[in-house]
Amino acid sequence: DMGGHDTYMHKEISEQPDAVDRVLRGRIDDRFSTVHLGGLNLDAREARGIRRVKILGCGTSYHAGMIGAGLVESLARIPADAEPASEFRYRNPVVDPDTLYIAVSQSGETYDVLAAVQELKRKGARVLGVVNVVGSAIARETDGGVYVHAGPEVCVVSTKCFTNTVVAFALLALHLGRIRDLSVADGKRIIDGLRRLPAQISEILELEDEIKKLADLYADAKSMMFIGRVRGYPVALEASLKLKEISYIHAEAYPASELKHGPLALIEPALPTVAIVPDDELLEKNRAALEEVKARSGRILAVAHQEQEKADHTIVVPKNEDELDPILMGIPLQLLAYHTALSLGRDIDKPRNLAKSVTVE
Ligand code: F6R
Repeated sequence: DMGGHDTYMHKEISEQPDAVDRVLRGRIDDRFSTVHLGGLNLDAREARGIRRVKILGCGTSYHAGMIGAGLVESLARIPADAEPASEFRYRNPVVDPDTLYIAVSQSGETYDVLAAVQELKRKGARVLGVVNVVGSAIARETDGGVYVHAGPEVCVVSTKCFTNTVVAFALLALHLGRIRDLSVADGKRIIDGLRRLPAQISEILELEDEIKKLADLYADAKSMMFIGRVRGYPVALEASLKLKEISYIHAEAYPASELKHGPLALIEPALPTVAIVPDDELLEKNRAALEEVKARSGRILAVAHQEQEKADHTIVVPKNEDELDPILMGIPLQLLAYHTALSLGRDIDKPRNLAKSVTVE
């Protein structure tokens, strides 16, 4: 049932305010400015002993894990990174008892992720899951974790589950942070920010007409460049993946700082750039990247918290706490991919060559 929407993807994009509400519900503890995660199965002493966090997933879940790693580093001050599960599995990784491993999966059935979990467990590692489908193989195989509560996702490409997964990581990072060195004040700041998300997502969804017009303007591109920096880079990666998957337009994502190390050679009017430009400590750096692109007469579409002078168009989104901004900045780009694919007449819910869950190697 598409509930009045033309596609499941549109329905699922629109459901995000409610979905985010669901992942937060019942978990916030205002008294201690922290969260309760019932199924985590990790006590405070164990949480204090974690020296590294390694996040494993595929595709969109890997991108959500990249943002999750940033959240764990900034809120809990634990070194963290994300890696595609299959890469991890085949490079004979050093498995370390002080590392917390986290498997991320919407379906909970992705073979590469499941196999990585099994390999880790065989070696005695502690593995948690950040999973959407309750009771799925990865949920059962892990030692505990955080359910994402996005609800069923039917469209082959992931949207609401991506957003909810990142929110689930924010909860986990807040929880670990408050056991370690995150202050009550910062805990409260993040909780207040999390509570603002559903209404702010609704505000972004109201920009749909404007985004549709932009999509029509850019749909003639043969290729698109997505750039972002630090927190913005996984947003760029995910937006580029979404565009590829459903519109079949070639897209690349680069850290903004890497442009001058090669990809700047590609910039010309026929290759538009989508830039993630949050109003944070890196704003001036990101503006400099826009200038580099403009100087090569590249068209620029910015996603930012205020109009960007160097950009041809800016999608202005509401500001949250710096750490949570990536959650909001991805949403207009889901709509951009959607309307680009729609104007090209693509089969949005079932893109060619793709399956919803990849249970084979
Ligand atoms: C992208 C997409 C895929 C999945 C990937 C992992 O829109 O849907 O990249 O994210 O196959 O799937 P899960 O999260 O089910 O493990």
